[in-house]
Amino acid sequence: MKKINRSDAILSALLVVMLIATGYFGYQTMTLKNKLARYTIDSTNALTQKDQKLAQLQTENEKLSNTLKNVAGDLEELEDNYRKEKDKNDEFDDKIREISKTVGVLNKLSKTDEELLQKYSKVYFLNENYIPSDITQIEDQYVLPGKDAAFFHGDALPFLENMIEDAARDDIDLSVISAYRSFDQQEALKGQYTTVYGSGANTFSADQGYSEHQLGTTVDLTDAATAGTYNSFADTKAYAWLLKNAYKHGFTLSYPEKNGYYIFEPWHWRFVGEDLAEYLYDNDLNFYDLEQREIDEYLISIFD
Ligand code: DAL
Ligand code: ZN
Repeated sequence: MKKINRSDAILSALLVVMLIATGYFGYQTMTLKNKLARYTIDSTNALTQKDQKLAQLQTENEKLSNTLKNVAGDLEELEDNYRKEKDKNDEFDDKIREISKTVGVLNKLSKTDEELLQKYSKVYFLNENYIPSDITQIEDQYVLPGKDAAFFHGDALPFLENMIEDAARDDIDLSVISAYRSFDQQEALKGQYTTVYGSGANTFSADQGYSEHQLGTTVDLTDAATAGTYNSFADTKAYAWLLKNAYKHGFTLSYPEKNGYYIFEPWHWRFVGEDLAEYLYDNDLNFYDLEQREIDEYLISIFD
């Protein structure tokens, strides 16, 4: 038998080791390749899933954005409708307020005697049945001593009394000589004057139905020294005071100098309400200078 020498044995052993090593490395390389391939497939799958998820999210995002846009649009429309409704309601409220005001004005006007601001002097006739709605006796302290009881329109009386009191505070003495006169009283008075003065009475006394005194809002005033309806009253401090202050109490002089109706009557004052009296005073006008329709605008506030 051939004897195996030592170096052959080593060589053979090396060969076996190399074979085993080659096999092992081959196996390892295959395993790694497989792993890599699986990993690549897994990664690709994961990426694809992520892309899909992203796409899905983007779609949902788009949908949400659209929904949001629609909601915003709806909200704007709602706000618009709300504003329109509110405007309509406001307009309606304004109209209701306006109508209520007009009704109030008409109501007040319907209760205000429209005769109170008519132009009587030889222009407008007040019939024999006309009696003011409220005739109240003027307290004696305001009436010239020795004169009959005097009466005045109840709503205008406080203005007359205040005026006399106001004058008294300025040391001006004012008294009433004559105030309300009925149709019949005026007729009797005019008759007496006509008996004495004939047609001359027409220059200072109105026919029945044409006297402002029948309204109950007109008064003849004097002071203690004059004590009557005399021209000399024009020279008194009382008359000067009236010219300056009567308007503040709603009174105006009906027959100033050179008026077209009667002689100058410094004693004859008519209550027309504070607004109109002030307007006349401020513009240096007389009641009879105005057109009736201009005067009528002040009727509503005559007793304010
Ligand atoms: N004295 C005036 C004009 C009247 O009688 O009414
Ligand atoms: Zn008079």
